[in-house]
Amino acid sequence: MTLATIDPIHRARRTNGFDVERVREDFPILARKVHGKPLVYLDSAASAQKPRAVIDAMSRFYEEDYANIHRGVHFLSQRATDAFEAARAKVARFLNAAKADEIIFTRNATESINLVAQSWGRKNLGPGDEIVLTELEHHANIVPWQMLRAEKGFEIKVAPIDDTGQIRLDAMAKLIGPRTRLVAVSHMSNALGTILPVREIVRMAHANDALVLIDGCQAAVHKQIDVQALDADFYAFSAHKLYGPTGIGVLYGKYALLDAMPPYQGGGDMIDRVTFARTTFKEPPHRFEAGTPAITEAIGLAAAIDYLAELGPSLVADHEDDVLAYATEKLTAIDGLTIHGTAAEKGAILSFTIAGAHAHDVATILDQQGVAVRAGHHCAHPLMDRLGVTATARASFALYSTRAEADALADAIGTVKRIFKL
Ligand code: ALA
Repeated sequence: MTLATIDPIHRARRTNGFDVERVREDFPILARKVHGKPLVYLDSAASAQKPRAVIDAMSRFYEEDYANIHRGVHFLSQRATDAFEAARAKVARFLNAAKADEIIFTRNATESINLVAQSWGRKNLGPGDEIVLTELEHHANIVPWQMLRAEKGFEIKVAPIDDTGQIRLDAMAKLIGPRTRLVAVSHMSNALGTILPVREIVRMAHANDALVLIDGCQAAVHKQIDVQALDADFYAFSAHKLYGPTGIGVLYGKYALLDAMPPYQGGGDMIDRVTFARTTFKEPPHRFEAGTPAITEAIGLAAAIDYLAELGPSLVADHEDDVLAYATEKLTAIDGLTIHGTAAEKGAILSFTIAGAHAHDVATILDQQGVAVRAGHHCAHPLMDRLGVTATARASFALYSTRAEADALADAIGTVKRIFKL
């Protein structure tokens, strides 16, 4: 998506199939006011709001079918187990995984990445090995690798971005070589919105026999993901950004890789047979799901996936592109405002700074107008260093965002400028 490629007539036509005002009625929280003003929720990249379909599915499960899973022969335990495993199958279809057993439920995407580091990484990385990250990674895709590096002594290489916030593939190609064991990259930057050419990155990595882990936290919300077409080895995302509940995330892994990986945590439900002498483990994915999982949250995630499917993912994507393009136009026209992240391929995120006003002050004043944005380093210190800023304000859009909300954002920024006399 680029602004230049979307003319006003095209924009109007593209939004015709999607009735955002009706869709907003599905999200009870959007009707509330904050500080006496209508809520303008532009912080969906941090966590998205939940449609009634998700809230109801979780309440219904608690009221009608709740029990622990995989353990009981009683009626409710079997109902709950079926629902939990059906949720796993639904996630597999959502990602176009080859089979449900390639889907591991975790606590969130951060835990998914830690699982790969502590299981695959601990077994396979050592002195002389290298992994490649990028300059725009979230801390969740940096820190687990640094923690493991301290123990295992491999090297971390960092692929640079250009001034638009896009990865420099030429530079990355030079970093990937015979020592590279893993390339771990974000699919869509949480701080800039940049969508990375992950298919190309996978090709480069595989040509060097390196695996690829994709952090899909933001991309899974805005793009249709096909892990087989991407040929991704691992793909991680969280439910709470995808209109689902907190407390559950997903790790997709190619089955042959998962099958060769040791468990990450020990406990109930992941074992085959335990004696004090030794323990044998279940097959994937259960080997990686120690203890009682987030059962109701899996039901909620399945409901969120159904909800998105009913709306039509391509209509949703077109709508979000439209709101992003409109908001970009509005903010570009504001004197003294800099947008960070101008790559040709980007999703529904607008990071900005205003000369003379700190991002936290900007966000606080916006909040007083009812406009919720995130301000700070967005868990991406190295990226902030690269941009030469300590913080940005970030507006992020979702399927329920509107052009009117982009107008409200621009108006609220006008208030910031008046207060700071900018
Ligand atoms: N990773 C989340 C964000 O970008 C929390 O806001």
